[in-house]
Amino acid sequence: MQRVFSGIQPTGVPQLGNYLGAIRNWVALQKDHECIFCLVDMHALTVWRTPETLRQDTFTQTACLIASGINPKSQILYNQSAVSAHARLGWIFNCVVRLGWLNRMTQFKEKAGKDREAHSAGLYIYPSLMAADIHAFHATRVPVGDDQRQHLEIANDIAEKFNHDYEVDFFPTIEALIPPEAARVMSLRDGTKKMSKSDPSAQSRIELTDTADEIALKIRRAKTDAEPLPSEEEGLESRPEARNLVTIYAALSGESMAQVLARFGGSGFGPFKTALADLLVTHIGPVGDETRRLLQAPDHLQAVLRDGAERANVIAEPIVREAERLVGFLR
Ligand code: TYM
Repeated sequence: MQRVFSGIQPTGVPQLGNYLGAIRNWVALQKDHECIFCLVDMHALTVWRTPETLRQDTFTQTACLIASGINPKSQILYNQSAVSAHARLGWIFNCVVRLGWLNRMTQFKEKAGKDREAHSAGLYIYPSLMAADIHAFHATRVPVGDDQRQHLEIANDIAEKFNHDYEVDFFPTIEALIPPEAARVMSLRDGTKKMSKSDPSAQSRIELTDTADEIALKIRRAKTDAEPLPSEEEGLESRPEARNLVTIYAALSGESMAQVLARFGGSGFGPFKTALADLLVTHIGPVGDETRRLLQAPDHLQAVLRDGAERANVIAEPIVREAERLVGFLR
């Protein structure tokens, strides 16, 4: 059985892009894979947040993942900082990765913007810790959204260089599992920008804990253009906001874009938006309710994470010890 690893940063509440691009796929993969899902709190620390926010977001995300259908008993769910293998292998990989490779990372460029020098070194070496997350488990399949593609390529490059430098065949090649549709859900306010937990405007995203009223309002206010919806997919070209909403509808209903447009094409956005809001409430509403219920018992959530960390450690410790031996560390 192939081993699956994936992670999410505990920064805010998971949004619809996280759900369609990653979480929904994680839930499906549990059926026939050994899965390890990680709240990457060390990655979250690369951008300043208060200790209380980080703690609270870790609880919220744990609850959201369980409410979405992740089974922490049959699979492993834990927070990254609780398993020291991540930091140890991350350091080794920092010494394998080349500055030139890191300089090409588009996510760093986007996050750091023009003021590069003011950002933490952690943000810069983010990709080698991410490579360590996966390789510490010898995981071979990594379900992510489209924005993580480059990070998984560098994770393979790092593993290949490690194997080459130490003349071993120790770290396997990893395969990105990117969903065929909704791999990049866009902001509701700007169809050229990715939907993100960290966008300053809460109106730009649907969060998994949004109530039915909040969902309806956000969809009603979602940016569109003045034209009616087209009847065919080609008509969505250069209409990023319309394309995004149709993509979301298709991903949730399981229909193709063509089927959605055959039904709603030709009319204004009004009836389509009402149908989309209803669909979202059906899918996301129960996740929000269950999340709120789970958050009433933070001790239980912490116990779940502790148990997950113990089981994660059993897998990662021997792999990282072997990597440490291979590079020449004494113990
Ligand atoms: P993060 O926390 O930004 O996002 C978690 C997952 O959600 C996907 N995603 C999206 N998919 C579609 N449309 C969107 N608008 C959208 N926004 C986010 C992301 O692609 C991701 O799959 N670096 C990772 C966390 C990480 C990780 C790992 C992932 C750390 N170590 C090891 C896989 C393996 C991140 O920041 O995800």
